[in-house]
Amino acid sequence: MRRPFIAGNWKMNLDMASAVALAKGVAREAEKVEEVDLAVCPPSVYLAAVAQAISGSQVQVGAQNMYHQPKGAFTGEISAAMLVDVGCRYVILGHSERRHILGETDELVNKKVHAALAAGLAPIVCVGETLEEREAGNTLDVIRRQFDGSLAGLSAQQLAGVVIAYEPVWAIGTGKVATPEQAEEVHLDLRKIIQDRYNRRTAEVVRIQYGGSVTPDNARVLLACPNIDGALVGGASLQVESFMGIVAAAG
Ligand code: PGA
Repeated sequence: MRRPFIAGNWKMNLDMASAVALAKGVAREAEKVEEVDLAVCPPSVYLAAVAQAISGSQVQVGAQNMYHQPKGAFTGEISAAMLVDVGCRYVILGHSERRHILGETDELVNKKVHAALAAGLAPIVCVGETLEEREAGNTLDVIRRQFDGSLAGLSAQQLAGVVIAYEPVWAIGTGKVATPEQAEEVHLDLRKIIQDRYNRRTAEVVRIQYGGSVTPDNARVLLACPNIDGALVGGASLQVESFMGIVAAAG
């Protein structure tokens, strides 16, 4: 019932020519794909070019971040409306690199989530524990705190338009992937939180992606888990073949 969703998070990689070429390659291969939603998330300076290059394809474009204010004196920031204007459908919010390197808090992520939804963007909201938090047995507490903080004040209808990405920090870019059991445990817990805070119907429709060292080799077992609805892919999204290998595992 939940349509699988695979998104590529290109982070701060590529240049204009290779970003456009990668997007075109994904769009071309996507013609053979059915029943899976696809998105690529290039660096913001390449968003417009990528969106233009693949417009009309079934691949959507997402940004990696935005600011919550609608406009004004916020040097260096980009608004939700600007992302819509250049062709974005999605925006990644609260990625662990923004939380841990750039100091983003749940409170800030929450403001961004509200602004994104108000502008018509679908936020991909990231949650995930660090290695220390996992080893201390605090994984589910951390996930609950991040869920409640980052997604505060949303109606059930709004939450249904949000994608959640569970990305254990220790698995991101490390080659250390969570086992299907570890990932499924957290995904199931997230669904229970949604049922608890909202209702069963909302818990059933919200898509929860897994992220952290997903490759074509490990994607199938992860995506076979009942509560894993897709993947947020970093490193393996930088090449058409590996990204589409993951997409094939979702179909
Ligand atoms: P990775 O990154 O696939 O390179 O681990 C995932 C992410 O940060 O979204």
